[in-house]
Amino acid sequence: MLEGKNILLGITGSIAAYKAAVLVRCLVKRGAKVKVLMTPSSKEFITPLTMATLSGSPILTEFFNPENGEWNSHVKLGLWADLYVIAPASANTIAKMANGIADNLLLTTYLSVRCPVMVAPAMDMDMYSHPTNIENLNKLASIGVDIAEPASGELASGLEGKGRMEEPEIICARIEEFFKKKSSLKGKRVLISAGPTREPIDPVRYISNHSSGKMGYAIASEFASRGADVMLVSGPTACKIENSSVKIFPVTTADEMYEKCVELFSTEPDITILAAAVADYAPAEYSTSKIKKEGSQSSITLRKNRDIAEQIGNTSMRRGIVAGFALETDNEEFNAMEKMRRKNLDMIILNSLNDKGAGFMTDTNKITIFSKSGERSEFPLMTKKETASAIVDYINKIV
Ligand code: PMT
Repeated sequence: MLEGKNILLGITGSIAAYKAAVLVRCLVKRGAKVKVLMTPSSKEFITPLTMATLSGSPILTEFFNPENGEWNSHVKLGLWADLYVIAPASANTIAKMANGIADNLLLTTYLSVRCPVMVAPAMDMDMYSHPTNIENLNKLASIGVDIAEPASGELASGLEGKGRMEEPEIICARIEEFFKKKSSLKGKRVLISAGPTREPIDPVRYISNHSSGKMGYAIASEFASRGADVMLVSGPTACKIENSSVKIFPVTTADEMYEKCVELFSTEPDITILAAAVADYAPAEYSTSKIKKEGSQSSITLRKNRDIAEQIGNTSMRRGIVAGFALETDNEEFNAMEKMRRKNLDMIILNSLNDKGAGFMTDTNKITIFSKSGERSEFPLMTKKETASAIVDYINKIV
């Protein structure tokens, strides 16, 4: 049910605009308050009168009413909404959203909303599969916009293919599922480590690895989107997160990451996920001045770093679920299970560099989860956002 939820529905110029009428009815029937925004061209496909009658609110199209100067504040609308759904979303609007163009009220509102956004594309199959459109949709998905993929079937052009806006009842169910998920981890406290560590050699050099932080940040973002409070201990990364439920603790070295994770673990989080690629070794000695280039060979003595997962997993005050990652290049399953056992983890998430698109830096990952109780769950190649969602779904079932 959608009792008490404020949903903003944006309608763009598409033959599928008639489906928006059914969608509004579905939402209102389930108890949601709906306000409708229409682009000027959408009025060619469905009348504002129809939408105003079904939603029980005047339609918003222009920035102001020329009759009386009344201002339609996109900022206020953005603050009012719990979810902004754009259905149908034309290729034109999707392209503008992906590029920050704001030449109508629907788009200025998109740029100002603080709530999550869902988009239901509707267009001809060739437009849909055009690389530019796919790139635009991927860009929106990568910043957290939920894409309700179009269905395949007969199109307005008479052609058959993928591009029909998803059926309103299915979008409505997706919206209900969205709100259900959003509060499913409310009150849970989560500790996550992400990114690489840097082990300084001298003032200009360090030892590190290729971790971008994308996987750990995607997990943090997914937990936060389901209502959890997240503590994110992050090595140096370009990743950003805009969610007040995520508190970031930036660190640089493995020692700093160890200290911070152990300190935060003592606050007894419900769930701990160690996704960071922590350097196993650090230079035994730090040179305070730049090491000079001398001779044809050089060597650095390394010392072993402390293992955060091993410490957390084996501590006597161990609480909640503790999960680790294993990045492997060979004997993947054996090595992952061995790490789970040695570090006393409840589960380990294996990603292998032998799988194309998995592991470091990419926007995708391919994982297999092994649980302490012997369960094995393999997932296909997915975006890191989808992978994070699968991991959180998995954990949600056992907390
Ligand atoms: O950041 P991205 O570019 O998105 O890439 C994601 C990732 C590949 C880094 C991530 O998916 C991943 O696999 N992270 C763990 C990588 C790793 O270092 O695995 P490992 O097999 O060396 O370590 C096993 C587990 O012990 C990990 O949970 C690791 O965080 C933890 N560990 C390792 C060493 C150490 N000193 N302390 C630890 O806590």
